[in-house]
Amino acid sequence: MQNSQKLIHTFGALAELGSEVAQKQNFQEMMRTSLHLLLGSLAIMRGGIARFSRFGHELNMLVVRGFSEEFPLSLSLCYEDERQFLVNGLYPIEVSQAKVLPFFQIYDQSFEKRRIELLIPLVIRDEIVGVVMLGEKANGEPYNNYDKDIICAMARHVGVAIAQRNLMAELERRAEENRRLYDDLKTTYADTVKAFATAIDCKDKYTEGHSVRVGKYSEIIAEELGWDEPEVEGAAVAGYLHDVGKLTVERNIINAPYRINAKESAELSKHPSIGYEILLPIHHPYADVPLAAKYHHERLDGRGYPDGLIDREIPYIAKIVNLADSFDAMTTDRPYKRRRPATEVIDDLSRNAGRQFSTDLVSAFMRGMLKELHGESKNKRFRKLLGRDYMETEGLAPLIAGALNDIAPTTHLTATHDH
Ligand SMILES: [Fe+2]
Ligand SMILES: [Fe+2]
Repeated sequence: MQNSQKLIHTFGALAELGSEVAQKQNFQEMMRTSLHLLLGSLAIMRGGIARFSRFGHELNMLVVRGFSEEFPLSLSLCYEDERQFLVNGLYPIEVSQAKVLPFFQIYDQSFEKRRIELLIPLVIRDEIVGVVMLGEKANGEPYNNYDKDIICAMARHVGVAIAQRNLMAELERRAEENRRLYDDLKTTYADTVKAFATAIDCKDKYTEGHSVRVGKYSEIIAEELGWDEPEVEGAAVAGYLHDVGKLTVERNIINAPYRINAKESAELSKHPSIGYEILLPIHHPYADVPLAAKYHHERLDGRGYPDGLIDREIPYIAKIVNLADSFDAMTTDRPYKRRRPATEVIDDLSRNAGRQFSTDLVSAFMRGMLKELHGESKNKRFRKLLGRDYMETEGLAPLIAGALNDIAPTTHLTATHDH
């Protein structure tokens, strides 16, 4: 997804800029050291560094030395002051000569009391980022041009550090904003998928909620396989959308209250390919969604459709959706057929493991069921999807446990271990 790439990029940039990003402490420390050096190198009695907030139009003191406690920590600037600071650039202003500016009129008293003689606007790339204020020199002499050159060089260093700090804060803010946008986008996508699933299910009045249930079963299987969260989400989405192609199949075929004839059946069996065509142009965060739609009626033994693929040719996600889809078909009432008893469904799954269904998927699915029956899973998803009575069919748990035992040793991996 474009947004996630942007996000990764932004975080990459942040990481590169290293320790200065995360550690506010370092910035304060750096300001303190800079002021210390500046004052020390010219034997200046007092001084301070303030950072300019362009939102509040004020200067906020970062560090001070030798100022008394009553010195204001925040000094406001008006438009005229800002304009003059910009015109002046990064060069010392003699406070005694600058009384025309509102800033120096307002803070006249404060400056006079601390004998502040110079104010250096920190203008970096045509922006004010702060100011340095300096009191008188220890020997009482006025500042000469040589002093001012040194002050300029050091003040520039301070200004660049503040500008960099501002940039970091801006980057952090944007990364945060990007993250929020990405989360919003993800939610929108998930909502859209669910709305789509509901739309698909509306068309098929006999199998109400089918897509949603297939989405949930697919999610359970992916979870049981130990997949990561994004992959589990992808499996759920593939389930939700697997029958999207049915949107173009005639309503009376889908809703036929009898077993459909060959012609109608041919029409209906186009839905996987149509679904694929519908889903392909959509930019999914999960790669296999269109493939799941296309191949969810394929079988391991090659007797499925549309392409009669065999085991290894069928995308894994399609095998998951196929199992979820078949399970839902067996466990819900159809117009011409009642749902089958739970024990029969388990028998069917184990008999068809390796023929229609992938054995490891059947195991994963049964494991999920068994965990819930044993009270080992947090939520009662199967009970919600199948109904309480159905899940509490007598003898179901031992039957599943037995089935799991029966099918497990036939998996390929176990078989090679035996030799
Ligand atoms: Fe289907
Ligand atoms: Fe389906």
